[in-house]
Amino acid sequence: MPLNAIVLAAGEGTRMKSAHPKVAHKLLGKPLVWWPIQAAREAGAERIVVVVGHGADEVRAALAGEDVEFVEQTERLGTGHAVRVVRDAIGGFQGPTVVLYGDTPLISAATISALVAETRANHNACTVLSFEPEDATGYGRIVRDEDSALQAIVEHKDCTPEQREELWECNSGIYCFCGRRLTENLDRIGNDNAQGEYYLTDMVGIYKELGEPVAALLAEDPDELLGVNSRRQLAEATYVMQERINGRLMDEGVTMLDPAMVWVGPGVTVGRDTELLPMTMLWGDTTIGEGCTIGPNTRLTDCHVGNGCIVDETVAQQATLENEVSCGPRAYLRPGTHLLDRSKAGTHVEIKNSTIGEGSKVPHLSYIGDTTMGSGVNIGAGSITCNYDGVFKHPTVIGDDVFIGSDTMMVAPVTIGDGALVGASSCITRDVSAGAIALERSEQVEFAGMGTRHMQKLREKKARQLEERARKEGK
Ligand code: UD1
Ligand code: CA
Repeated sequence: MPLNAIVLAAGEGTRMKSAHPKVAHKLLGKPLVWWPIQAAREAGAERIVVVVGHGADEVRAALAGEDVEFVEQTERLGTGHAVRVVRDAIGGFQGPTVVLYGDTPLISAATISALVAETRANHNACTVLSFEPEDATGYGRIVRDEDSALQAIVEHKDCTPEQREELWECNSGIYCFCGRRLTENLDRIGNDNAQGEYYLTDMVGIYKELGEPVAALLAEDPDELLGVNSRRQLAEATYVMQERINGRLMDEGVTMLDPAMVWVGPGVTVGRDTELLPMTMLWGDTTIGEGCTIGPNTRLTDCHVGNGCIVDETVAQQATLENEVSCGPRAYLRPGTHLLDRSKAGTHVEIKNSTIGEGSKVPHLSYIGDTTMGSGVNIGAGSITCNYDGVFKHPTVIGDDVFIGSDTMMVAPVTIGDGALVGASSCITRDVSAGAIALERSEQVEFAGMGTRHMQKLREKKARQLEERARKEGK
Protein backbone atom coordinates (compact mmCIF):
# COMPACT_ATOMS: atom_id res chain seq x y z
CA MET A 1 0.00 0.00 0.00
CA PRO A 2 1.43 3.40 -0.92
CA LEU A 3 2.24 5.93 1.76
CA ASN A 4 0.07 9.03 2.32
CA ALA A 5 0.87 12.15 4.29
CA ILE A 6 -1.29 14.80 5.93
CA VAL A 7 0.43 18.07 6.78
CA LEU A 8 -1.43 20.21 9.30
CA ALA A 9 -0.94 23.85 8.46
CA ALA A 10 -4.15 25.67 9.34
CA GLY A 11 -2.89 27.48 12.42
CA GLU A 12 -2.36 31.21 12.65
CA GLY A 13 0.89 31.43 14.55
CA THR A 14 0.12 34.54 16.60
CA ARG A 15 3.53 34.49 18.26
CA MET A 16 5.20 35.23 14.92
CA LYS A 17 3.63 38.73 15.11
CA SER A 18 3.16 38.67 11.37
CA ALA A 19 0.71 39.68 8.67
CA HIS A 20 1.48 36.35 6.99
CA PRO A 21 0.53 32.81 7.97
CA LYS A 22 3.27 31.17 9.99
CA VAL A 23 3.97 28.27 7.63
CA ALA A 24 4.58 30.66 4.71
CA HIS A 25 7.61 32.15 6.48
CA LYS A 26 10.81 31.09 4.82
CA LEU A 27 13.59 28.90 6.13
CA LEU A 28 16.65 28.88 3.85
CA GLY A 29 14.58 30.16 0.95
CA LYS A 30 11.64 27.72 1.23
CA PRO A 31 8.39 28.15 3.18
CA LEU A 32 8.28 26.30 6.51
CA VAL A 33 5.52 23.99 5.26
CA TRP A 34 7.63 22.97 2.26
CA TRP A 35 10.11 21.12 4.47
CA PRO A 36 7.87 18.42 5.98
CA ILE A 37 6.29 17.95 2.54
CA GLN A 38 9.75 17.37 1.10
CA ALA A 39 10.66 14.93 3.91
CA ALA A 40 7.41 13.01 3.33
CA ARG A 41 8.10 12.89 -0.40
CA GLU A 42 11.64 11.61 0.21
CA ALA A 43 10.21 8.96 2.53
CA GLY A 44 8.07 7.79 -0.39
CA ALA A 45 4.72 9.49 0.20
CA GLU A 46 2.61 9.50 -2.96
CA ARG A 47 -0.41 11.45 -1.86
CA ILE A 48 0.27 14.53 0.28
CA VAL A 49 -2.65 16.54 1.63
CA VAL A 50 -2.02 19.94 3.21
CA VAL A 51 -4.64 21.26 5.63
CA VAL A 52 -4.87 25.01 5.21
CA GLY A 53 -6.97 27.52 7.12
CA HIS A 54 -5.47 30.76 8.31
CA GLY A 55 -4.09 32.61 5.28
CA ALA A 56 -5.07 29.67 3.08
CA ASP A 57 -4.50 31.50 -0.20
CA GLU A 58 -1.04 32.62 0.82
CA VAL A 59 -0.10 29.09 1.89
CA ARG A 60 -1.39 27.70 -1.41
CA ALA A 61 0.61 30.33 -3.29
CA ALA A 62 3.74 29.54 -1.28
CA LEU A 63 3.42 25.92 -2.42
CA ALA A 64 2.63 26.68 -6.07
CA GLY A 65 4.09 24.02 -8.32
CA GLU A 66 4.30 21.38 -5.56
CA ASP A 67 2.48 18.15 -6.19
CA VAL A 68 0.16 18.35 -3.17
CA GLU A 69 -3.57 18.53 -2.52
CA PHE A 70 -5.13 21.21 -0.35
CA VAL A 71 -8.04 20.81 2.02
CA GLU A 72 -9.40 23.87 3.77
CA GLN A 73 -10.29 23.71 7.45
CA THR A 74 -12.49 26.76 7.97
CA GLU A 75 -13.05 26.23 11.70
CA ARG A 76 -10.04 25.15 13.70
CA LEU A 77 -11.44 22.77 16.28
CA GLY A 78 -8.28 20.79 16.97
CA THR A 79 -5.85 18.35 15.38
CA GLY A 80 -8.44 15.54 15.36
CA HIS A 81 -10.91 17.81 13.60
CA ALA A 82 -8.29 18.77 11.01
CA VAL A 83 -7.76 15.12 10.06
CA ARG A 84 -11.51 14.56 9.95
CA VAL A 85 -11.90 17.46 7.53
CA VAL A 86 -9.34 15.79 5.28
CA ARG A 87 -11.12 12.45 5.44
CA ASP A 88 -14.45 14.07 4.64
CA ALA A 89 -12.92 15.92 1.68
CA ILE A 90 -11.07 13.04 0.09
CA GLY A 91 -13.06 10.05 1.25
CA GLY A 92 -10.60 8.44 3.62
CA PHE A 93 -7.28 6.66 3.37
CA GLN A 94 -5.92 3.26 2.60
CA GLY A 95 -2.38 2.37 3.53
CA PRO A 96 -0.04 3.97 6.03
CA THR A 97 -0.74 7.65 6.60
CA VAL A 98 1.70 9.94 8.36
CA VAL A 99 0.56 13.12 10.05
CA LEU A 100 3.07 15.97 10.09
CA TYR A 101 2.99 19.63 11.11
CA GLY A 102 3.64 22.48 8.71
CA ASP A 103 5.58 24.31 11.42
CA THR A 104 7.99 21.45 12.21
CA PRO A 105 10.48 21.75 9.36
CA LEU A 106 13.41 19.71 10.64
CA ILE A 107 11.78 16.28 10.53
CA SER A 108 13.89 13.97 8.36
CA ALA A 109 12.82 11.45 5.75
CA ALA A 110 14.76 8.79 7.68
CA THR A 111 12.68 9.37 10.82
CA ILE A 112 9.44 9.24 8.84
CA SER A 113 10.60 6.02 7.19
CA ALA A 114 11.43 4.47 10.58
CA LEU A 115 7.95 5.39 11.84
CA VAL A 116 6.31 3.85 8.77
CA ALA A 117 8.47 0.72 8.99
CA GLU A 118 7.49 0.24 12.64
CA THR A 119 3.81 0.64 11.74
CA ARG A 120 4.00 -1.83 8.86
CA ALA A 121 6.08 -4.41 10.74
CA ASN A 122 3.72 -4.59 13.73
CA HIS A 123 0.48 -3.78 11.88
CA ASN A 124 0.03 -0.89 14.30
CA ALA A 125 -3.10 1.16 14.08
CA CYS A 126 -0.93 4.05 15.19
CA THR A 127 2.75 4.64 15.90
CA VAL A 128 3.50 7.88 17.72
CA LEU A 129 6.85 9.59 17.33
CA SER A 130 7.84 10.62 20.85
CA PHE A 131 10.79 12.66 22.04
CA GLU A 132 12.44 14.03 25.14
CA PRO A 133 12.53 17.80 24.97
CA GLU A 134 14.65 19.82 27.39
CA ASP A 135 11.45 21.39 28.67
CA ALA A 136 8.25 19.35 28.44
CA THR A 137 5.94 22.28 29.21
CA GLY A 138 3.05 22.48 26.75
CA TYR A 139 3.54 19.08 25.16
CA GLY A 140 1.21 16.11 25.35
CA ARG A 141 2.75 13.43 27.61
CA ILE A 142 3.26 9.80 26.71
CA VAL A 143 1.76 7.49 29.30
CA ARG A 144 3.19 3.96 29.36
CA ASP A 145 2.03 0.97 31.45
CA GLU A 146 4.18 -1.31 33.70
CA ASP A 147 5.44 -3.16 30.62
CA SER A 148 6.33 0.23 29.11
CA ALA A 149 3.70 -0.24 26.39
CA LEU A 150 2.01 2.93 25.12
CA GLN A 151 -1.15 3.57 27.07
CA ALA A 152 -2.36 7.04 26.18
CA ILE A 153 -1.37 10.61 25.39
CA VAL A 154 -2.45 13.22 27.90
CA GLU A 155 -2.31 16.87 26.87
CA HIS A 156 -0.32 19.18 29.14
CA LYS A 157 -3.47 21.06 30.10
CA ASP A 158 -5.25 17.83 31.00
CA CYS A 159 -2.36 16.40 33.07
CA THR A 160 -2.46 16.09 36.84
CA PRO A 161 0.33 18.01 38.62
CA GLU A 162 2.07 14.65 39.23
CA GLN A 163 1.88 13.72 35.56
CA ARG A 164 3.37 17.08 34.59
CA GLU A 165 6.28 16.42 36.98
CA GLU A 166 6.91 12.78 36.22
CA LEU A 167 6.19 12.22 32.55
CA TRP A 168 9.22 13.30 30.54
CA GLU A 169 8.47 11.54 27.27
CA CYS A 170 6.40 13.79 25.01
CA ASN A 171 4.27 13.52 21.91
CA SER A 172 5.97 15.10 18.90
CA GLY A 173 2.64 15.38 17.10
CA ILE A 174 3.96 13.20 14.29
CA TYR A 175 2.33 9.81 13.79
CA CYS A 176 1.94 7.02 11.33
CA PHE A 177 -1.60 5.66 11.22
CA CYS A 178 -3.09 2.74 9.38
CA GLY A 179 -5.25 4.71 6.95
CA ARG A 180 -8.17 2.30 7.00
CA ARG A 181 -8.45 2.08 10.79
CA LEU A 182 -7.99 5.85 11.09
CA THR A 183 -10.78 6.52 8.59
CA GLU A 184 -13.12 4.11 10.37
CA ASN A 185 -12.55 5.35 13.91
CA LEU A 186 -11.95 9.09 13.64
CA ASP A 187 -15.51 9.94 14.61
CA ARG A 188 -14.94 8.42 18.05
CA ILE A 189 -12.89 11.48 19.04
CA GLY A 190 -14.84 13.82 21.33
CA ASN A 191 -14.05 17.26 22.66
CA ASP A 192 -14.63 16.81 26.37
CA ASN A 193 -11.28 18.17 27.56
CA ALA A 194 -9.60 21.23 29.01
CA GLN A 195 -9.47 23.02 25.64
CA GLY A 196 -12.80 21.82 24.23
CA GLU A 197 -10.94 20.60 21.12
CA TYR A 198 -10.97 17.40 19.11
CA TYR A 199 -7.58 15.92 19.95
CA LEU A 200 -5.98 13.60 17.42
CA THR A 201 -4.01 12.24 20.37
CA ASP A 202 -7.22 10.62 21.66
CA MET A 203 -6.86 8.01 18.90
CA VAL A 204 -4.27 6.23 21.06
CA GLY A 205 -6.72 5.63 23.92
CA ILE A 206 -9.48 4.76 21.43
CA TYR A 207 -7.33 2.09 19.76
CA LYS A 208 -6.30 0.71 23.16
CA GLU A 209 -9.96 0.16 24.01
CA LEU A 210 -10.55 -1.49 20.65
CA GLY A 211 -7.58 -3.77 21.27
CA GLU A 212 -5.71 -2.40 18.24
CA PRO A 213 -1.92 -2.33 18.52
CA VAL A 214 -0.33 1.07 19.12
CA ALA A 215 3.26 2.04 19.93
CA ALA A 216 5.50 5.02 20.55
CA LEU A 217 8.86 5.31 18.83
CA LEU A 218 11.37 7.56 20.57
CA ALA A 219 13.07 9.94 18.15
CA GLU A 220 16.85 9.82 18.25
CA ASP A 221 17.37 13.52 17.58
CA PRO A 222 15.01 15.90 19.41
CA ASP A 223 16.19 18.74 17.13
CA GLU A 224 14.09 17.23 14.35
CA LEU A 225 10.98 18.07 16.33
CA LEU A 226 11.73 21.71 16.98
CA GLY A 227 8.47 23.54 16.27
CA VAL A 228 8.56 27.08 14.95
CA ASN A 229 6.19 29.34 16.86
CA SER A 230 8.24 32.52 17.04
CA ARG A 231 10.90 34.38 15.12
CA ARG A 232 13.45 33.15 17.66
CA GLN A 233 12.53 29.56 16.91
CA LEU A 234 12.62 30.30 13.18
CA ALA A 235 16.21 31.48 13.59
CA GLU A 236 17.04 28.38 15.67
CA ALA A 237 15.54 26.04 13.09
CA THR A 238 17.37 27.88 10.32
CA TYR A 239 20.61 27.39 12.19
CA VAL A 240 20.02 23.64 12.59
CA MET A 241 19.13 23.23 8.91
CA GLN A 242 22.11 25.35 7.86
CA GLU A 243 24.40 23.10 9.89
CA ARG A 244 22.84 20.04 8.31
CA ILE A 245 23.15 21.26 4.73
CA ASN A 246 26.63 22.75 5.17
CA GLY A 247 27.76 19.63 7.01
CA ARG A 248 26.64 17.48 4.10
CA LEU A 249 28.38 19.76 1.58
CA MET A 250 31.63 19.63 3.55
CA ASP A 251 31.34 15.83 3.68
CA GLU A 252 31.01 15.92 -0.10
CA GLY A 253 34.23 17.92 -0.51
CA VAL A 254 33.24 21.58 -0.29
CA THR A 255 35.47 23.94 1.71
CA MET A 256 34.01 26.65 3.95
CA LEU A 257 36.08 29.22 5.77
CA ASP A 258 33.20 29.62 8.21
CA PRO A 259 30.13 27.40 7.74
CA ALA A 260 28.08 29.64 10.03
CA MET A 261 28.38 32.41 7.44
CA VAL A 262 27.21 30.44 4.41
CA TRP A 263 23.53 29.82 3.61
CA VAL A 264 22.61 27.21 1.04
CA GLY A 265 19.05 26.27 0.06
CA PRO A 266 17.95 22.63 -0.16
CA GLY A 267 17.88 22.48 -3.95
CA VAL A 268 21.45 23.64 -4.50
CA THR A 269 24.35 21.41 -5.56
CA VAL A 270 28.03 22.29 -5.12
CA GLY A 271 30.93 20.36 -6.66
CA ARG A 272 34.00 19.18 -4.81
CA ASP A 273 36.99 21.43 -4.19
CA THR A 274 34.76 24.47 -4.43
CA GLU A 275 35.22 26.96 -1.64
CA LEU A 276 32.32 28.95 -0.23
CA LEU A 277 33.51 32.11 1.50
CA PRO A 278 31.63 34.05 4.20
CA MET A 279 28.37 35.88 3.47
CA THR A 280 27.52 33.63 0.55
CA MET A 281 23.88 32.71 -0.10
CA LEU A 282 22.94 30.14 -2.72
CA TRP A 283 19.24 29.88 -3.40
CA GLY A 284 16.72 28.16 -5.62
CA ASP A 285 17.90 25.82 -8.37
CA THR A 286 21.49 26.96 -8.23
CA THR A 287 24.21 24.51 -9.27
CA ILE A 288 27.93 25.12 -8.74
CA GLY A 289 30.63 23.03 -10.37
CA GLU A 290 34.02 21.88 -9.09
CA GLY A 291 37.00 23.95 -8.06
CA CYS A 292 35.20 27.30 -7.85
CA THR A 293 35.67 30.08 -5.33
CA ILE A 294 32.32 31.65 -4.45
CA GLY A 295 32.13 34.74 -2.24
CA PRO A 296 32.72 36.52 -0.06
CA ASN A 297 29.48 38.55 -0.18
CA THR A 298 27.79 36.66 -2.98
CA ARG A 299 24.12 35.84 -3.55
CA LEU A 300 23.21 33.51 -6.40
CA THR A 301 19.59 32.62 -7.13
CA ASP A 302 18.72 30.03 -9.80
CA CYS A 303 22.21 30.26 -11.30
CA HIS A 304 24.37 27.67 -13.01
CA VAL A 305 28.09 27.93 -12.48
CA GLY A 306 30.52 25.57 -14.22
CA ASN A 307 33.97 24.49 -13.05
CA GLY A 308 36.87 26.66 -11.98
CA CYS A 309 34.92 29.91 -11.71
CA ILE A 310 35.71 32.80 -9.38
CA VAL A 311 32.58 34.63 -8.23
CA ASP A 312 33.59 37.42 -5.88
CA GLU A 313 31.05 39.83 -4.33
CA THR A 314 28.43 39.10 -6.93
CA VAL A 315 24.65 39.20 -6.96
CA ALA A 316 23.18 37.07 -9.74
CA GLN A 317 19.78 35.72 -10.71
CA GLN A 318 19.06 33.23 -13.48
CA ALA A 319 22.55 33.60 -14.85
CA THR A 320 24.71 30.89 -16.38
CA LEU A 321 28.47 30.91 -16.00
CA GLU A 322 30.32 28.29 -18.01
CA ASN A 323 33.86 27.24 -17.02
CA GLU A 324 36.72 29.36 -15.67
CA VAL A 325 34.59 32.47 -15.67
CA SER A 326 35.60 35.33 -13.42
CA CYS A 327 33.08 37.66 -11.82
CA GLY A 328 33.28 40.66 -9.56
CA PRO A 329 34.16 42.01 -7.13
CA ARG A 330 30.79 43.77 -7.30
CA ALA A 331 29.14 42.35 -10.36
CA TYR A 332 25.39 42.25 -10.85
CA LEU A 333 24.17 39.58 -13.25
CA ARG A 334 20.50 39.71 -14.10
CA PRO A 335 18.28 37.11 -15.76
CA GLY A 336 19.47 35.80 -19.09
CA THR A 337 23.15 36.52 -18.54
CA HIS A 338 25.30 33.84 -20.13
CA LEU A 339 29.03 34.03 -19.58
CA LEU A 340 30.89 31.60 -21.82
CA ASP A 341 34.19 29.87 -20.97
CA ARG A 342 36.98 32.10 -19.59
CA SER A 343 34.92 35.27 -19.92
CA LYS A 344 34.92 37.99 -17.31
CA ALA A 345 32.40 40.35 -15.74
CA GLY A 346 34.57 42.54 -13.57
CA THR A 347 34.04 45.21 -10.99
CA HIS A 348 30.89 47.36 -10.91
CA VAL A 349 29.58 45.61 -13.99
CA GLU A 350 25.91 44.94 -14.67
CA ILE A 351 24.85 42.47 -17.34
CA LYS A 352 21.31 41.55 -18.37
CA ASN A 353 19.96 39.20 -21.02
CA SER A 354 23.30 38.99 -22.80
CA THR A 355 25.83 36.45 -23.95
CA ILE A 356 29.48 37.23 -23.32
CA GLY A 357 31.57 35.11 -25.69
CA GLU A 358 34.53 32.87 -24.90
CA GLY A 359 37.41 34.76 -23.34
CA SER A 360 35.62 38.11 -23.72
CA LYS A 361 36.09 40.65 -20.97
CA VAL A 362 33.88 43.34 -19.47
CA PRO A 363 36.28 44.31 -16.71
CA HIS A 364 35.19 47.67 -15.26
CA LEU A 365 32.11 49.86 -14.73
CA SER A 366 29.92 48.73 -17.61
CA TYR A 367 26.29 48.00 -18.36
CA ILE A 368 25.68 45.38 -21.03
CA GLY A 369 22.04 44.62 -21.85
CA ASP A 370 20.31 42.65 -24.63
CA THR A 371 23.70 42.00 -26.23
CA THR A 372 25.23 39.13 -28.12
CA MET A 373 28.99 39.31 -27.88
CA GLY A 374 31.47 37.12 -29.75
CA SER A 375 34.74 35.72 -28.44
CA GLY A 376 37.93 37.59 -27.59
CA VAL A 377 36.18 40.93 -27.12
CA ASN A 378 37.48 43.60 -24.76
CA ILE A 379 35.09 46.23 -23.47
CA GLY A 380 36.90 49.30 -22.15
CA ALA A 381 36.11 50.76 -18.74
CA GLY A 382 32.88 52.69 -18.44
CA SER A 383 31.43 51.52 -21.76
CA ILE A 384 27.74 50.72 -21.93
CA THR A 385 25.04 49.57 -24.25
CA CYS A 386 22.17 52.07 -24.48
CA ASN A 387 19.54 49.39 -25.01
CA TYR A 388 16.46 51.34 -23.94
CA ASP A 389 14.95 54.29 -25.79
CA GLY A 390 12.43 55.01 -23.08
CA VAL A 391 9.81 52.72 -24.60
CA PHE A 392 11.49 49.82 -26.43
CA LYS A 393 14.52 47.64 -25.74
CA HIS A 394 16.93 47.13 -28.64
CA PRO A 395 19.70 44.59 -29.27
CA THR A 396 23.42 45.12 -29.64
CA VAL A 397 25.56 42.66 -31.59
CA ILE A 398 29.31 42.67 -31.09
CA GLY A 399 31.40 40.34 -33.28
CA ASP A 400 34.55 38.36 -32.43
CA ASP A 401 37.80 40.07 -31.40
CA VAL A 402 36.25 43.53 -31.17
CA PHE A 403 38.00 46.19 -29.10
CA ILE A 404 35.77 48.82 -27.55
CA GLY A 405 37.62 51.82 -26.12
CA SER A 406 36.73 53.21 -22.71
CA ASP A 407 33.63 55.31 -22.20
CA THR A 408 31.92 54.15 -25.37
CA MET A 409 28.14 54.41 -25.70
CA MET A 410 26.71 51.78 -28.03
CA VAL A 411 23.25 53.07 -28.93
CA ALA A 412 21.13 50.07 -29.86
CA PRO A 413 20.07 48.67 -32.20
CA VAL A 414 23.63 48.50 -33.41
CA THR A 415 26.05 45.92 -34.77
CA ILE A 416 29.83 46.06 -34.47
CA GLY A 417 31.56 43.74 -36.93
CA ASP A 418 34.33 41.20 -36.23
CA GLY A 419 37.72 42.68 -35.48
CA ALA A 420 36.45 46.27 -35.36
CA LEU A 421 38.01 48.85 -33.08
CA VAL A 422 36.06 51.68 -31.49
CA GLY A 423 38.01 54.66 -30.17
CA ALA A 424 37.54 55.76 -26.55
CA SER A 425 34.64 58.04 -25.70
CA SER A 426 32.70 57.38 -28.88
CA CYS A 427 28.96 57.48 -29.07
CA ILE A 428 28.24 54.76 -31.63
CA THR A 429 24.85 55.18 -33.26
CA ARG A 430 25.51 53.43 -36.59
CA ASP A 431 26.76 49.94 -37.39
CA VAL A 432 30.53 49.48 -37.54
CA SER A 433 31.92 47.28 -40.34
CA ALA A 434 34.17 44.33 -39.64
CA GLY A 435 37.80 45.31 -39.33
CA ALA A 436 37.09 49.08 -39.26
CA ILE A 437 38.08 51.76 -36.78
CA ALA A 438 35.13 53.84 -35.65
CA LEU A 439 35.60 57.10 -33.85
CA GLU A 440 33.02 59.64 -32.70
CA ARG A 441 34.88 62.37 -30.89
CA SER A 442 35.33 66.14 -31.33
CA GLU A 443 38.84 67.22 -32.19
CA GLN A 444 41.27 68.14 -29.42
CA VAL A 445 42.49 71.77 -29.43
CA GLU A 446 45.47 73.33 -27.63
CA PHE A 447 46.23 76.89 -26.39
CA ALA A 448 49.95 77.29 -25.64
CA GLY A 449 50.83 78.47 -22.10
CA MET A 450 47.22 79.15 -21.22
CA GLY A 451 47.04 76.48 -18.50
CA THR A 452 49.84 78.06 -16.50
CA ARG A 453 48.40 81.57 -16.83
CA HIS A 454 44.93 80.37 -15.88
CA MET A 455 46.17 78.60 -12.73
CA GLN A 456 48.24 81.62 -11.73
CA LYS A 457 45.16 83.87 -11.94
CA LEU A 458 43.17 81.51 -9.74
CA ARG A 459 45.93 81.34 -7.11
CA GLU A 460 46.16 85.13 -7.01
CA LYS A 461 42.42 85.41 -6.56
CA LYS A 462 42.50 82.98 -3.63
CA ALA A 463 45.42 84.86 -1.98
CA ARG A 464 43.43 88.13 -2.20
CA GLN A 465 40.42 86.49 -0.55
CA LEU A 466 42.55 85.16 2.33
CA GLU A 467 44.10 88.58 2.88
CA GLU A 468 40.67 90.21 2.94
CA ARG A 469 39.40 87.71 5.53
CA ALA A 470 42.46 88.20 7.79
CA ARG A 471 41.98 91.98 7.64
CA LYS A 472 38.31 91.67 8.69
CA GLU A 473 39.08 89.29 11.56
CA GLY A 474 41.96 91.49 12.74
CA LYS A 475 39.56 94.40 13.43
C1 UD1 B 1 -0.11 19.00 19.70
C2 UD1 B 1 -0.45 17.68 20.36
C3 UD1 B 1 0.50 17.46 21.54
C4 UD1 B 1 1.94 17.49 21.06
C5 UD1 B 1 2.22 18.79 20.32
C6 UD1 B 1 3.58 18.74 19.69
C7 UD1 B 1 -2.86 17.43 20.07
C8 UD1 B 1 -4.17 17.51 20.73
N1 UD1 B 1 -1.80 17.71 20.84
O1 UD1 B 1 -0.34 20.01 20.66
O2 UD1 B 1 0.24 16.20 22.14
O3 UD1 B 1 2.83 17.37 22.16
O4 UD1 B 1 1.25 18.97 19.27
O5 UD1 B 1 3.86 19.96 19.10
O6 UD1 B 1 -2.78 17.11 18.90
N2 UD1 B 1 -3.73 22.53 13.55
C9 UD1 B 1 -4.59 22.58 12.49
N3 UD1 B 1 -5.94 22.63 12.73
C10 UD1 B 1 -6.45 22.62 13.99
C11 UD1 B 1 -5.54 22.57 15.07
C12 UD1 B 1 -4.20 22.50 14.82
O7 UD1 B 1 -4.17 22.58 11.33
O8 UD1 B 1 -7.66 22.67 14.13
C13 UD1 B 1 -2.29 22.49 13.29
C14 UD1 B 1 -1.60 23.72 13.81
O9 UD1 B 1 -1.46 24.68 12.79
C15 UD1 B 1 -0.25 23.20 14.25
C16 UD1 B 1 -0.51 21.76 14.62
O10 UD1 B 1 -1.73 21.41 14.01
O11 UD1 B 1 0.70 23.21 13.21
C17 UD1 B 1 -0.54 21.56 16.12
O12 UD1 B 1 -1.66 22.19 16.65
P1 UD1 B 1 -1.71 22.79 18.10
O13 UD1 B 1 -3.11 23.14 18.39
O14 UD1 B 1 -0.68 23.85 18.22
O15 UD1 B 1 -1.31 21.55 19.00
P2 UD1 B 1 -0.40 21.56 20.28
O16 UD1 B 1 -1.12 22.25 21.39
O17 UD1 B 1 0.93 22.04 19.94
CA1 CA C 1 31.98 61.30 -26.67
